Amino acid sequence: MAAEEQGIPVLLAGEPVPDLAAHLARGGGEALALARGRGPGWVIGELTLSRLRGRGGGGFPTGTKWASIRDAGPGRRFAVANAAEGEPGTFKDRALLRHDPYRVLEGLAIAVAALDADGAYVATKASFEPEVARLRTAIEETSAAGWFGSIPVTLVLGPDEYLFGEEKGLLEVIEGREPLPRLFPPFQHGLFATDIQSGWEATEAVPSGTAGPGQANPTLVNNVETLANVPLVLARGPEWFRSLGTDRSPGTVVATVTGDVQHPLVVEVELGTTVGELIDRAGGPRPGRRVQAVVNGVANGVLTGSMLDVPLSYEDLAAVGSGLGSAGFVVYDDTACAVEVARALSRFLYVESCGQCRACKFGSGEITRVLEALGAGTGTEHDVEVMGVRLRSVTDQARCYLATEEQVLVSSLLQRFPEEFALHLEGRCSIDEPRPILVPKIVALADGTVTWDQHQAAKQPDWTYA
Ligand SMILES: Cc1cc2nc3c(=O)[nH]c(=O)nc-3n(C[C@H](O)[C@H](O)[C@H](O)COP(=O)(O)O)c2cc1C
Ligand code: SF4
Repeated sequence: MAAEEQGIPVLLAGEPVPDLAAHLARGGGEALALARGRGPGWVIGELTLSRLRGRGGGGFPTGTKWASIRDAGPGRRFAVANAAEGEPGTFKDRALLRHDPYRVLEGLAIAVAALDADGAYVATKASFEPEVARLRTAIEETSAAGWFGSIPVTLVLGPDEYLFGEEKGLLEVIEGREPLPRLFPPFQHGLFATDIQSGWEATEAVPSGTAGPGQANPTLVNNVETLANVPLVLARGPEWFRSLGTDRSPGTVVATVTGDVQHPLVVEVELGTTVGELIDRAGGPRPGRRVQAVVNGVANGVLTGSMLDVPLSYEDLAAVGSGLGSAGFVVYDDTACAVEVARALSRFLYVESCGQCRACKFGSGEITRVLEALGAGTGTEHDVEVMGVRLRSVTDQARCYLATEEQVLVSSLLQRFPEEFALHLEGRCSIDEPRPILVPKIVALADGTVTWDQHQAAKQPDWTYA
């Protein structure tokens, strides 16, 4: 069925929503009223039936997540909208917030009602000025309209660090600290928790989730796009949601397509659309060029130009060693060197690693050093062996998933482009004049033009800028 007949786009449909009145005029608020009337069991049941999965990168089933927070035992509850959008190649959360922040806040208000939460937070970057302005107004309007009852909604403006978007780092920032991921996930050790984390604290040991002097305060963290889907699932029903997409990956996805394409864009498509069709929506590669590699953020294995018929779904992308992630696809054509792509992205992860886990910081640093040497034509067989060892151990005792991202992404580039790495060992490159690759961190994306973050290249591993 044609996309328009299915009513796609859904989340990005129509003109941007200017105010709460316009959101209500489009049927907004209906899902919140239903949620309040029918209760938490119904809300969580509908989300579970819909098979909605998180759009923040991990793809965790949303109904299961909400149920686990509700059932997690004593302690206060909090709900957090993750609007940090730090994944390279991604601009979709900002596009959604510009289009309709009210839908995201309605999803958050439904979470507050379903979990009987004591507080709600929207965490975004201070540097996202247009989105901050939209959110500020929308929070005022929806709070005044009683969407959150007497519960305060706090807008938290965080730093540009990649780890701010990681949910355990996000909670640290909300509590006023640096985005250094805490030990346990938010459903076990939530906001303002007073239970012990590691067993090393000099406080009385109170197991997570139990009553007593320590409280775990299970906290829901959901991505902007996940929350925006919630009112639609409730208002239109899980069957409607499952009529879109594939059986195991229902719904739509808001994808970002940038890099070596003719018309970079944010576009909402049905899940099941192929990667090639998505690239076509962005005008395809430049004339005379072919797609060599497609990087989906920095958390997934790379795709090659021969894999463009893979459908965008959790299961199909996982089957080819990649993942849906946050659907930020950066296309590299045959003028990009795979070793240079690996160097740039590995350096990003090395720089952004917080260093709490030695194997992550040290290992990603070593891997980056070897990739730099290979790029310069000075890498040796021994260097490559060292890189292999570090790729295996980089995840040792890792607190968060960033270390796995380094392992998965760099290993996939080595596996998919072995000839290029072999050539570099001989001091050669398949491309006559390889261009430097920037980390694809998007500052702005409008009318087919991307503005990349030019500061990232100067960022140092201690988070200062050279
Ligand atoms: C290093 C790192 C960075 C992340 N950055 C973001 C981010 O910017 N935005 C986001 O929504 N999720 C991000 N995530 C995923 C979150 O930790 C979390 O899984 C997500 O917000 C949960 O929401 P969902 O269930 O709705 O997907 C990141 C994860 C990692 C490991
Ligand atoms: S795995 Fe890396 S980024 Fe994550 S907490 Fe440990 S050192 Fe920091």
